[in-house]
Amino acid sequence: MRYFPPVEFSIKALSPETAQAGCVVLGVHQGGELTAAARRVDQASKGALKKALRDISGRSGSTLLLRDLPGVAAERVLLIGLGEKTAEAGYRDAVRAAAQALKELGAKDAALFLVDMKVGSRPLSWNVRHAVLGVRDAFYRFDQLKSDKKAPAPALAQVILPLSPKAELKNALQEAVATADGSALAKTLGNLPPNICTPAYLAAEAEKMAREFKLKVEVLERKDMEKLGMGALLAVARASHQPPKLIVLKYFGAGKNNKPIALVGKDITFDTGGISLKPAGEMDEMKFDMSGAGSVLGAIRALAGMKAPVNVIGVIPACENMPGGAATKPGDIATSLSGQTVEILNTDAEGRLILCDALTYAARFEPDTVIDIATLTGAIVIALGHVATGLFANDQKLADEIRDAADDAWDRVWQMPLWEDYQEQLRSNFADMANIGGRPGGSITAASFLARFTRKMRWAHLDIAGTAWKSGREKGSTGRPVPLLVRYALRHAGRK
Ligand code: BES
Ligand code: MN
Ligand code: ZN
Repeated sequence: MRYFPPVEFSIKALSPETAQAGCVVLGVHQGGELTAAARRVDQASKGALKKALRDISGRSGSTLLLRDLPGVAAERVLLIGLGEKTAEAGYRDAVRAAAQALKELGAKDAALFLVDMKVGSRPLSWNVRHAVLGVRDAFYRFDQLKSDKKAPAPALAQVILPLSPKAELKNALQEAVATADGSALAKTLGNLPPNICTPAYLAAEAEKMAREFKLKVEVLERKDMEKLGMGALLAVARASHQPPKLIVLKYFGAGKNNKPIALVGKDITFDTGGISLKPAGEMDEMKFDMSGAGSVLGAIRALAGMKAPVNVIGVIPACENMPGGAATKPGDIATSLSGQTVEILNTDAEGRLILCDALTYAARFEPDTVIDIATLTGAIVIALGHVATGLFANDQKLADEIRDAADDAWDRVWQMPLWEDYQEQLRSNFADMANIGGRPGGSITAASFLARFTRKMRWAHLDIAGTAWKSGREKGSTGRPVPLLVRYALRHAGRK
């Protein structure tokens, strides 16, 4: 089940006054200064645009629709305020405001003249990527499970990015469309209810993707995990009626000699907390506890869709965390795949248990770099809110590369410490370590736990508990950090 809006994007050199588009979208700065394209329309219309400026504040995101301007071919001209924000935020907000306005207008096609703005030191390819992602984000829908089919589909079918069609811009467009597809997949998997989106469903989804894009896929079953000795993962899966899966999905777009990037995604399709049961309020949101896995599938879909010259292996440990007669109890000790033993003091700290076995398993692919992505701790939401993903790494160069890719993708991260000093909080009297480290620095001790399983690898951990979904009226998956993962992989492969 997926839904990709049929908006089509193209790059074409056009003049704003002669463009045969249903709607021409132009920018105006705070204080009424027009962009170059807007100035041309103003001249062609003998000052009609300047005259209209008193009806738009120029505040970021403000809009004004004008019709039938003299000397302008397009029926409608949509003015968007660019505000005074930093160039990047201003551009992004303007694109999103334009998309929202086009949606409300029911416009069928538009020429987005905002794209030729100079945005800080970013190249035009950056503008192209963010235009596509902004529009696609605004037009994403998840309504397959509503029975009222009368709600009209969004009308927008065509968006022209009026630039001269150079190869690097066409590449950026292709990258952005594939990234938007991957991000939409991640959103839909996140939004699906936990009775549909089970470990088996996600395994089937990976298999479907493998057929569509000719990827290699392998799904380990409970008995395989028992044979291997994945005691930590199996301890989490014990009480669920849904069988656990370990999904391995491989995309090889570069030569066989290039070591792959391993993306390890937490896939708890529902987290009740287990015997350490969570309170009832907002527990439904724990259907999003598979967002790490969703982002891995989304990123691989994007990279395969654009035939990116990279090798990526997705490793996805999938299960439910349920209470029950067979459930793991606080005090139980599990032996992980690595041989290290873990005293499970809180069954709600389950993410690190499935991840530690998946990380150990990932080592067999001899990856160049391992990145795990997980809705791991409530504490990261307290630390960073819903803006930045928590970044941890055992290699500073890797952390810097991920941060730069995140800024580029506007899917931002903030680095947290991973000093040895935190390790003592994981001390156990009865096993090699405990699975919790107390309230102080809860996200850091969670990452420190994972660090014990990745000592021999170049590794980073993304805690996306605050960024993978929105709560409240706008409840829903954000598709993050698909844009970051895609950008990181491409920069890793030498693409700008
Ligand atoms: N999936 C949750 C993390 C989470 C909590 C994400 C709230 C988003 C919002 C994770 O499995 C969990 O329950 N973590 C515990 C760890 C604690 C028991 C050490 C937490 O953060 O409370
Ligand atoms: Mn939990
Ligand atoms: Zn969880």
